[in-house]
Amino acid sequence: MSRIDGKAVAAKLRDEVAEKVEHFRRKVGRAPGLAVVLVGDDPASNVYVGAKGKATVEAGMESFTHRLPAATSEGELIRLVRRLNADEKVDGILVQLPLPDHIDADRVIDAIDPKKDVDGFHVINAGRLSVGQDALVPCTPYGCLHLLKQQLGDLSGKHAVVIGRSNIVGKPMAQLLLQENATVTIAHSRTRNLPELARSADILVAAVGRPEMVKADWIKPGATVIDVGINRLPPASEGEKGRLVGDVDFAGAESVAEAITPVPGGVGPMTIAMLLRNTLVAAYAREG
Ligand code: GUN
Repeated sequence: MSRIDGKAVAAKLRDEVAEKVEHFRRKVGRAPGLAVVLVGDDPASNVYVGAKGKATVEAGMESFTHRLPAATSEGELIRLVRRLNADEKVDGILVQLPLPDHIDADRVIDAIDPKKDVDGFHVINAGRLSVGQDALVPCTPYGCLHLLKQQLGDLSGKHAVVIGRSNIVGKPMAQLLLQENATVTIAHSRTRNLPELARSADILVAAVGRPEMVKADWIKPGATVIDVGINRLPPASEGEKGRLVGDVDFAGAESVAEAITPVPGGVGPMTIAMLLRNTLVAAYAREG
């Protein structure tokens, strides 16, 4: 019955990163640098990219934002990525997804130097995570794990059900939980008896992108619920913006779960905090 305050946890993390950034600057003689690349003008992506740049500067790091037109070719984008790979001032590279349809995101991600892959999307980092080696870990699931450990302490032996199998959230989330010795089930759109399965979870992570799909009766009393979804409902009346909701029916779930992340103010702020942390980790790894 408690709300997990992702905003407060993220603020603390960002303060810690800012302190270490100062230490890095004194030791190395420059600030860590993060390059963010946006292709096209998707409004949501535009907001995310603006927020990432602002948070980077607030942490004392250098921010390089590249906004490219929607018609940019895959070749041009990959050439920019290679330039950033070679740029000594750039420690982290993030190419905002989704990319326009004419660009193959896998080929672009493949072009990023794994040492600068602060999204943790490169196959080298995904592979390292899956075999338990040091890796740059995708920011959203890393943020979820941080919230879970903060809330529950030891996760060992707990049954975690992750709904969603994306490369960005579901799969790395499952790997991280497994590393913490949780018993992990990955569920998805073809899973049978999903409500019943979800009800067996001590930890329920919803990352499907379907507004309020997880209902109160899918949740075991006392479970911890992490809602990764950010969905905008259709506006109630003309000229208004629709309400932002998660993948969990928050109003219903709140009375059943022991703890739950709200949307907004839960997982979202943690993603940016972890991006800053990954950039700092990448900077130290490059400079030794
Ligand atoms: N689009 C939605 N989430 C993400 C993310 O974590 N990283 C990138 N690069 N794009 C995204």
